[in-house]
Amino acid sequence: MDKKSVLLIIGGGIAAFKSLELIRLLKTRGLGVTAIMTKAAEQFVTPLSVASLSGNKVYTDLFSLTDEIEMGHIELSRSADLIVVAPATADLIAKMANGLADDLASTTLLATDKKVLIAPAMNVRMWQHAATQRNIAQARRDGVAMVGPNDGEMACGEFGPGRMAEPAEIVAAIEAQFSVPTRSLQGRKVLITAGPTHEPIDPVRYIGNNSSGKQGYAIAEAAVALGAETILISGPVNLPLPPGAQVMPVETAETMLKYTEDELPCDIAIFAAAVADWRVAATSDEKIKKTGSGTPKLDLVENPDILKTIATRKSKRPKIVVGFAAETENVIENAKKKLAAKGCDLIVANDVSPASGVMGGDTNIVHLVSAKGVETWPRMSKREVAQRLMDRLAAMLAQS
Ligand code: C5P
Repeated sequence: MDKKSVLLIIGGGIAAFKSLELIRLLKTRGLGVTAIMTKAAEQFVTPLSVASLSGNKVYTDLFSLTDEIEMGHIELSRSADLIVVAPATADLIAKMANGLADDLASTTLLATDKKVLIAPAMNVRMWQHAATQRNIAQARRDGVAMVGPNDGEMACGEFGPGRMAEPAEIVAAIEAQFSVPTRSLQGRKVLITAGPTHEPIDPVRYIGNNSSGKQGYAIAEAAVALGAETILISGPVNLPLPPGAQVMPVETAETMLKYTEDELPCDIAIFAAAVADWRVAATSDEKIKKTGSGTPKLDLVENPDILKTIATRKSKRPKIVVGFAAETENVIENAKKKLAAKGCDLIVANDVSPASGVMGGDTNIVHLVSAKGVETWPRMSKREVAQRLMDRLAAMLAQS
């Protein structure tokens, strides 16, 4: 990464303090860092701290005569290899998505032709708001890469997605952007669903399952390694985010389907999520209480089948659609039935009976079931399964 330089745009959020650590890490890796701060960012960290750590002048003002004479704001992005926005606030993302340019940060983002990587950070409700999700989707369509946000406790006391990725994760995402593009899924878009879904019963309870998300996350990592634009739509899991993938956290099957549809068209779609088959028909707004007179009755309705919905689409069907079949008996036979029933091109079938140790474990034994027949792979790590699977899919795509 020697001699590369990053233009870091620091937005105004409590996570701005982590940008100082980010600058420090980038400098220790030999990268040049120049920073732009928004007015709001100056409320959280001082330009003096940023200048001291980056070793460079900090830019804050669009209409600074001195700055324009020294280095015009257009030149700022020209001399960088990558623009990183951390923290990317809801406001900055909205400006990017809509092409607004009313300060130095947003003007630089609009005036650049360089790759932009954003690390969103905001309150969980702001993150989940339809407007923010729309803006994120638009920014991504415009080619913006994203790292995080992570799930966790927020400065505001709430819990959920919205925490900025940790500085080390952002560095890994930056390194992924700088790695040499000689890989076979370069320019291709791969979408992966992973993890369980949580279907709410009331504000504190849900229907879920034991899926760890490990296999889906490993597939996302393998897709990034092959150079694909990788979208990981993930149910609630307890795993580090795969650097370089664009992760969209979701809770329910319905949201997972919506985000999946929003990401079309794509080249390869891999449905590794353990989607809950049912959800509660009418969720309670209040925590359901024990009444002493019997148990509550939960009416269930069927969730949409995401894999089948996407595989049988008339328009924008991904070129290759892959399903997973987690079975506890008659693994191959059931997988063959599933291949036909779901309309996908390949089923990766595995035995998840308790004796197999697959569920939550680090290894997997899989059978690839397609129209061509069945191929069984020996027991290997979920990471190896992911790499071999992505290699296979890249080859299939090249032939298609
Ligand atoms: O649950 P089932 O065995 O039918 O799941 C097989 C495949 O279908 C998996 O790839 C899973 O991700 C996908 N699926 C889905 N939406 C559902 C149920 C399953 O995408 N509602």
